[in-house]
Amino acid sequence: MSKDTLTITDNSTGNEVEYPLLKGTLGNPTVDVRALKNDLGYFTFDPGFVSTASCKSAITYIDGEQGILLYRGYPIEELAENCSFLEVAYLLIHGELPNEQELNHFKFEIDDRTVLHESLRVFFDGFHYDAHPMAMMVGVVGSLSAFYHSDLDISDPDNRYICATRMIAKIPAIAAACYRHSIGAPFVYPRVDLDYCENFLNMMFSRPEKRFIEQARSIDETAVKALNLLFILHADHEQNASTSTVRLAGSTGANPYACIAAGIAALWGPAHGGANEAVLSMLKEIGTVERIPEYIAKAKDKDDPFRLMGFGHRVYKNFDPRATIIRQTCHEVLRQSCQPDPLFDLAMALEEYALQDDYFIEKKLYPNVDFYSGIIYKALGIPVDMFTVMFTIARTAGWVAHWLEMPGDAGNVIGRPRQLYVGPSQREVMPLHRR
Ligand code: CMC
Repeated sequence: MSKDTLTITDNSTGNEVEYPLLKGTLGNPTVDVRALKNDLGYFTFDPGFVSTASCKSAITYIDGEQGILLYRGYPIEELAENCSFLEVAYLLIHGELPNEQELNHFKFEIDDRTVLHESLRVFFDGFHYDAHPMAMMVGVVGSLSAFYHSDLDISDPDNRYICATRMIAKIPAIAAACYRHSIGAPFVYPRVDLDYCENFLNMMFSRPEKRFIEQARSIDETAVKALNLLFILHADHEQNASTSTVRLAGSTGANPYACIAAGIAALWGPAHGGANEAVLSMLKEIGTVERIPEYIAKAKDKDDPFRLMGFGHRVYKNFDPRATIIRQTCHEVLRQSCQPDPLFDLAMALEEYALQDDYFIEKKLYPNVDFYSGIIYKALGIPVDMFTVMFTIARTAGWVAHWLEMPGDAGNVIGRPRQLYVGPSQREVMPLHRR
């Protein structure tokens, strides 16, 4: 029997079959069970894909036990220390960090595709001012498919690359427009003389009389630095729910902008990207440091649906390396924030309390990146309902990198899971008078 196989014995028949063990560069060997249905007539049952690899990918690697996160082999800590978000976006897409010339060219490609079609502005008028910005994001990004469809042959790699860079270019402009629409302010044109994060902040906050970056230079530098860091940390996270959604939609050959809109919808939920917004709602609900024990007890109570938002992770079981990096910036930003906010003190007290609680220690529930990201965004003046939109801007780089990777994977077929049917067996429809 080969060492590179796994044998499965069907105890009901005694039949034995061997399946290949696939070995990646890093990580657990993976049993290729594609032939199982034909060999033994069985499906595998794995809700939530806890043990199932859905594809091969060379983009991101996570070791949840060791708290390791690599983009194209580079540790997240080193990327966060040395790179800009655009360099990281380039890395995710191209597989290598850019040299200066390549980065300048990439910036040119992004800048060139940043402006929104004037007709797209009209779409925003269809939303009431108090629509959730993530609802607008799903709608407006999806509507890009109407602007870029008929001339789009996505079997051509050059066209695919244009789609990917166009998406990275336009997403900050769309995000800022969602915010400006919600406050009834005119949209601000992107500026090519600013870097990616500065440009976004300028589109969000600039007023006719003052450009954002001239308003309070020291705060702005902190804001740009923190934003750059958060965008890098959130840029990719292998086959998470939203990336898998983009891949699933992409596997059908759907329009790429519609695929990204599907990813945005998946990201919105509080168990995924919506957690940063949920953290702030939770802190508001807890209200005071004195009530922390009450809410910790609720989180531990099996009959209470309440969970401590921003704690726990499907993959990281010892610590989230992104949280370790961002925690320091969080404390820095809070120190520099001119307006003390009682919610920040509450967040720090909650973090300390939970980290010492047996339940959280035993279940390995540590603060994840989104416990801190929401707090930083609030300190930077980003409205709470825009937090998940911020995550969307960053994760777009990852989504398009995965979407670009798909055609190269020999196993790239339409995604179509099986199920364990537990409904009624076949039965007869009785005529109405006999039911
Ligand atoms: N508060 C209280 N108990 C929790 C929490 C929490 N935040 N998270 C997990 N648990 C308990 C859970 O009740 C379960 O207990 P038991 O073993 O007694 O049934 C145990 O810990 C394992 O939880 P699980 O739900 O099986 O773990 P999972 O891997 O399926 O879920 C998670 C991971 C992130 C959905 C979950 O930890 C959670 O809901 N956290 C809060 C939401 C959150 O912060 N999400 C952001 C994740 S980071 C951003 C991203 O990468 O998308």
